[in-house]
Amino acid sequence: MDIEHTSTSCRFRGTTLPRTYVDLPVSLDRGAPVALTVQLGDRLRTAMRDGTLKSGERLPSTRALARQLSISRTVVTEAYQQLYAEGWLDGRHGSGTYVADLVIHAPVTARSGSAVSGSVPALAGGGSAPSGGPAVPLPAGACGRGERVIDLRPGHPWVRDYDQAAWRRAWRKAADLPPGDRSDPYGVPRLREALAEHLRRTRAIAVGPEDIMVTRGTGNGLDLVAATLLSAGDRAGVEDPGYRVARNVFAARGAEIVPCPVDEDGVVVDGLPDDLRVLYTTPAHQYPLGGRLPISRRERLLDWARRTGAIIVEDDYDAEFRYDVAPLPALHGLDPDRVVLLGTLSKSLAPDIGVGWLVAAPDLLTAIVATRQDLSDRTSGPAQQAVAVMMERGDLDRHLRRMRLEYARRRAAVVDVLGPLVTGDTAGLHVMVELPGEIIPSLLEEARERGVLLDSTLDRHHHGEVRRHGLVIGYGSASLAEVRQGVAVVAELIGPRLADESRVAF
Ligand SMILES: Cc1ncc(COP(=O)(O)O)c(C=O)c1O
Repeated sequence: MDIEHTSTSCRFRGTTLPRTYVDLPVSLDRGAPVALTVQLGDRLRTAMRDGTLKSGERLPSTRALARQLSISRTVVTEAYQQLYAEGWLDGRHGSGTYVADLVIHAPVTARSGSAVSGSVPALAGGGSAPSGGPAVPLPAGACGRGERVIDLRPGHPWVRDYDQAAWRRAWRKAADLPPGDRSDPYGVPRLREALAEHLRRTRAIAVGPEDIMVTRGTGNGLDLVAATLLSAGDRAGVEDPGYRVARNVFAARGAEIVPCPVDEDGVVVDGLPDDLRVLYTTPAHQYPLGGRLPISRRERLLDWARRTGAIIVEDDYDAEFRYDVAPLPALHGLDPDRVVLLGTLSKSLAPDIGVGWLVAAPDLLTAIVATRQDLSDRTSGPAQQAVAVMMERGDLDRHLRRMRLEYARRRAAVVDVLGPLVTGDTAGLHVMVELPGEIIPSLLEEARERGVLLDSTLDRHHHGEVRRHGLVIGYGSASLAEVRQGVAVVAELIGPRLADESRVAF
């Protein structure tokens, strides 16, 4: 791609830059099945990766590029928004759109020969929203008033509305097959095919069925990675605050847990120790703070792993549910040799199904599978067959589209009520509300008396020193009406407490 520069001058981040913007001879294929926004994003990503577009260079305005390409300005705006969200672009507001400061490496070649785009298609809407179901029956003596609780605990998806016909059909098809006399330790080939297609399409990674092992979920995948890679006393990095299961699993395998700080963008790379054997991270939506690891930090994280020899364990939980822009491609796609990807149906379908996946480089995958056989560990064959049927028929995609809309509504309800107190709300099924630690115990107690269950506090996600306090509020397992009602109670309880603390006018 050749670039011409059009000259004037401007200031960017306090520096005077020549006000040039690149004239991009991009061509888009209107006949291609790939949306124009995705094509444009891909062309620009490629240009930034291969150095055709350099850090600090100014892109044409959305209007100018739209005119040049004879496409709608919305297409250009959406492509820019996506790249901005991924960290490729900067300085969007005010003086123009610029290529961010990037540490760029040559793209990693696909292992399985599948051509994938560097981005993920925009979230598609469609389908009708599920109706509200009954609240969770109140455990005896759990709350002071009322008979039901509104459950705002994170980590639970909505399982009360699903396509029952599709579910039954999937299990009938699975039941047509006899149970196996042994299980394939990699998983049922048919499901691995379906998963590979799903991951190529939705997570932009170049995988084939041979790169995948079907697990019972993220916890099972973490354990098999730990059993393969960690010996007693090895140092295992976990995000702090972070997912407790990851540190429990690593500790149970004898590792020394090393808390690695996270900020609003995700795990902090500067200062990561050089002697970690593995590092567990949630780049799509940091759990629980909610950051999305920008591309420049992803590149630095991989640099660190290549230099130190550490293996990064990417928990791709939450990638399916993004509300601002399309999900970022998985970290695994940037360096399949250094990153083990873990995915699960726990949130997209239901934890009870017990199906997830693990993607790793061939040698590592072989070692993990050998560990699995040594431990006589397996995933239910009939469950895998049923999930394969749902995926092949498009039932899982339909369910995801429907749930995205529903969760987006619930998330909007939370943001409407709690407003600027909410952070980490651009993806997943939970938000963060940081609060002074001293007001939290009484707040939880009163919420419980009023029928609102909120037991996840930020301090419980820390390993060692507790630096931040707040509530992790889940909106997966309460209906829209319940979410509205529940967060209204939370707002009523927070308001006077914060006013007392004279911290925020609420
Ligand atoms: C950060 C994170 N990863 C993964 C999971 C799901 O794990 P599993 O597939 O073992 O159910 C959860 C569930 O709450 C989670 O919070």
